[in-house]
Amino acid sequence: MNTQEKYARSQIVLHWLVAVLIAANYMLGDFMGEAFERIIDTGAVVEIGAGANAHRAIGVTVMLLVLVRLVLRWRLGAPAASTAGPAILQTAAKLGHAALYLLMLAVPITGAVAFNGQIEALGEVHEMLTSLLLLLVLGHAVMAIYHQVVLKDGVMARMR
Ligand code: HEM
Ligand code: HEM
Repeated sequence: MNTQEKYARSQIVLHWLVAVLIAANYMLGDFMGEAFERIIDTGAVVEIGAGANAHRAIGVTVMLLVLVRLVLRWRLGAPAASTAGPAILQTAAKLGHAALYLLMLAVPITGAVAFNGQIEALGEVHEMLTSLLLLLVLGHAVMAIYHQVVLKDGVMARMR
């Protein structure tokens, strides 16, 4: 049973750092999309610009930081789930958080393998997964606000 009130400072810092890095990579996605198209068209690894390079570096950083997060989660745990609101919310949060972790790994992995192996179809899978991640993140943020504004159960404060 977990009795802590908040996530550990390291978990909080990583949560927001990774969120910012992921947001940056959505903005840099187009640069990588164009670079990747040129690579596929010419069949060779052409010079890629700063935007595409940043997309690659940030994406790999996200993947590594998420692995660190998972280790921290396993070692330090998390505050006990809030019991405010219908019980189904607890299950949804559990599944949603697991899916977020899974996608935060699957997105950069598919991107990296598509890029390095010049695999066009995997590039499309990467893009599909980024849409899915975006949807989940939006739902996640909406639920965080719902906890803050409607349930008022202090869930937001655990990640601050
Ligand atoms: C790219 C953006 C984001 C990703 C990938 C993300 C991912 C996650 C994950 C995986 C967890 C579960 C942590 C754990 O138990 O190990 C979590 C918790 C949390 N996130 Fe986010 N998050 C993002 C953005 C946000 C935003 C924008 C907000 C607020 C509006 C937010 C608020 C929270 C809160 C309050 C928790 C704690 C939930 C709890 O105690 O059960 N997150 N986030
Ligand atoms: C957090 C991690 C990542 C996020 C959120 C992300 C997000 C995105 C987005 C939104 C696009 C679509 C751009 C568009 O529609 O034009 C994209 C494309 C792409 N990304 Fe990423 N990416 C991540 C990691 C990576 C990594 C690590 C690599 C490679 C090392 C990579 C390689 C690519 C490639 C090759 C494309 C073009 C795919 C295609 O056109 O079929 N991405 N990424």
